[in-house]
Amino acid sequence: MLPKELVRFKELGKPITILTAWDSLSSAFVEAAGADVVLVGDSLAMFIHGHTTTLPITLEQMLHHTQAVERGFTKSISEQPLIVCDLPFLSYQCGEDKAVSAAGYLLKNSSAAAVKLEGAEPEVLAVINRFIRMGIPVMGHLGLTPQSVHNLGYQKQAKDKLSQDKLIQQAIEIEESGCFAVVIEHVPSQITGKIRNLLKIPVIGIGAGEDCDGQVRVTADLLGLTSKQPPFAKPIIESRELFINALKDWVNQIKNPTKTTSQQEFDC
Ligand code: KIV
Repeated sequence: MLPKELVRFKELGKPITILTAWDSLSSAFVEAAGADVVLVGDSLAMFIHGHTTTLPITLEQMLHHTQAVERGFTKSISEQPLIVCDLPFLSYQCGEDKAVSAAGYLLKNSSAAAVKLEGAEPEVLAVINRFIRMGIPVMGHLGLTPQSVHNLGYQKQAKDKLSQDKLIQQAIEIEESGCFAVVIEHVPSQITGKIRNLLKIPVIGIGAGEDCDGQVRVTADLLGLTSKQPPFAKPIIESRELFINALKDWVNQIKNPTKTTSQQEFDC
């Protein structure tokens, strides 16, 4: 699927599903679940590398994870989810040439077909514009933009009229700059609905209510794998507890073998 085909989804009223993946195991799950898009999100800096923010992850690490993600797919190419890869902090903020070379590096060396970047400052809009002209499809990201954590924190954004008007304006500029979709994170749901009606490109929400053209979730949050759940991303299963209990049972069985369990284990 081409990134721009997601606009057709919106025209047809077909909801878009996007899940993050960080390796071949997680991408196999996401593909099997039938998600339209796999996002190799820079949130993997926190979930997989244990950083407290997304800032430390490098371009090389993003490529490494994207290559692992594509190896997890088992379906034919035409049936595989589209891969979108996050551009990490400072890979697109230091001049247009550097940004093109960073995005090009990801697209040349993996099956990612598009990049995602955060914000709508004039410099970022200029970079998006340049990417589009160079044949690099772009997904925007507004609202809570985790790469700006030292300015915004992790709080809900666009709570007052002034910042809501700014968000609407930014979304319009993101569309005009040529993005094929925009993620809107952790903002009041009424504002997402307004933006959705104003734009032709799909609005993909996370913690932004249901009035969106699609939803994106961090798979680790959705599966309840982490100990720190964001308030707006409720798990659909408590996997962490499930896995820990199963592993505890195994450890206990090895440490305190009963005839039956140890026999079963070593007979296999
Ligand atoms: O990095 C990520 O996982 C993301 C999602 C929160 C949309 O950008």
